[in-house]
Parts: sequence; C-alpha cells; structure tokens
Amino acid sequence: MSHEVVEKNIGLMVVLIILVISVAGLVQIVPLFFLTSTTQPIEGMEPRSALELEGRDIYVREGCYTCHSQMIRPFRAETERYGHYSVAGESVWDRPFQWGSKRTGPDLARVGGRYSDDWHRLHLTDPRAVVPESNMPAYAFLERREIKADLTPRKMRALQRLGDPYTDEQIEAAADEVRDMTEMDALIAYLQGLGTELAHWR
Ligand code: HEC
Repeated sequence: MSHEVVEKNIGLMVVLIILVISVAGLVQIVPLFFLTSTTQPIEGMEPRSALELEGRDIYVREGCYTCHSQMIRPFRAETERYGHYSVAGESVWDRPFQWGSKRTGPDLARVGGRYSDDWHRLHLTDPRAVVPESNMPAYAFLERREIKADLTPRKMRALQRLGDPYTDEQIEAAADEVRDMTEMDALIAYLQGLGTELAHWR
C-alpha cells in the first residue's frame, strides 16, 4: 500500500507535506501578482508629496502603527465609522504598507481631512488637551526637529526606481519643499493626505 509507505517514512511525509502546502500557497498568491485590482493604483491617485513622504517616515519611526491600523475592513460597523473600506490600489506605492491590525487607537486609513491641521498639532503635542481620556503618548518634540531636506530627493529617487511615478522635476524640487519644515509639519501633512482619494465614496 503506497499510503502505508508514506505514513511509515517521516522524511518522505515531510517532503510531500511541503509540496502540498507550496502548491496550495502558490495557487492563492500568484494570481494576485497579475490582478489589476491589487497591482494598479486607484484612479486619480498621486504619489505622496515630498512633505507627506517625510511625514510617513516619522510615522514609521515613531511606531504609530503599534496602536493604529490603516485598514478598514468591509464590514458595516467599520465603514459607518471610518468610511469606505480600504482597497489594495490605495497602497500600491506604500513600502511597506501600514495596514496592521492593532487598534489601541482608531483606524487612520481615512483620517485625512477629518480634523484641521491645528487640531492635529494640539493633539500630537498634548493628546489629553483635546481628548481627556486618551492614552496616546505626546509627541511635542516633533515641533523642535527639522526635516533633513538633503535626504528627501534621495528617498524619492529610490521610490522612483521601484515604480512610484515621481517625475525628475518633482524630485529636484523636493529639497526646497521640505526645507525649514519641522517633523510635526511633515507628520500632519501625511495624516491629512491619508485615504483622501476614495473620500468621495464615503
Ligand atoms: C499607545 C498607543 C498609541 C500610540 C503609540 C499612538 N496613538 Fe494615536 N491614538 C491613540 C488612542 C488611544 C487614540 C484615541 C484617543 C485620542 O484621540 O487621543 C488615538 C488617536 C489618534 C488620532 C485621532 C484619530 C481619530 O480618528 O480621532 C490620530 C490622528 C492619531 N492618534 C495619530 C497618531 C500618530 C501620528 C502617532 C505616532 C506619532 C500615534 N497616534 C501614536 C493611541 C496611540
């Protein structure tokens, strides 16, 4: 009985298990590389501005993702609260994307435009000043740190090589765009840009 051979030979069984799992995995994963709904940006999407891009790096550096997801699931409770569910085409230029699932605080996928810049500045400086029961840390120090403007064009060049549609003119203008800006300005610009492309679907 061939079945008996497999059951009594653990080495062979391991090889066969790996084979089965690999094939099953590939069947799920490979088609995603060719689906336009997962590999193409949504209509009208622009790559992040130089300032937003710097803000994103601060978001990642400060570990905001440890408390905030950026992934609205397609359930009514989520879409009523946060807006249209997230689609893959919104994150095709995000490396790495910030979806996550940890929600100590609210999802931020569509927070752009929900509050004023001043609200964000106050909230990030002292969260308890606007939401008394908040347990979010204060990030007041971001106001005292300047963006390293000389690095911005190099980051954009790297993203351009990976396929983000930055033009050479945008990259050349980038350093001047972020010069003398604080990390606070950049983070707020990033937050205000989050999820706005699909906002009219809300
Ligand atoms: C320890 C967990 C924690 C960390 C880390 C954290 N937050 Fe929060 N955040 C919260 C909680 C809880 C709330 C809800 C209460 C409030 O508004 O302060 C919140 C609310 C927010 C809101 C308002 C969202 C809304 O829809 O009302 C924004 C924007 C925000 N956080 C941005 C950030 C950014 C940017 C960072 C990183 C610099 C960050 N948070 C880090 C816990 C956290």
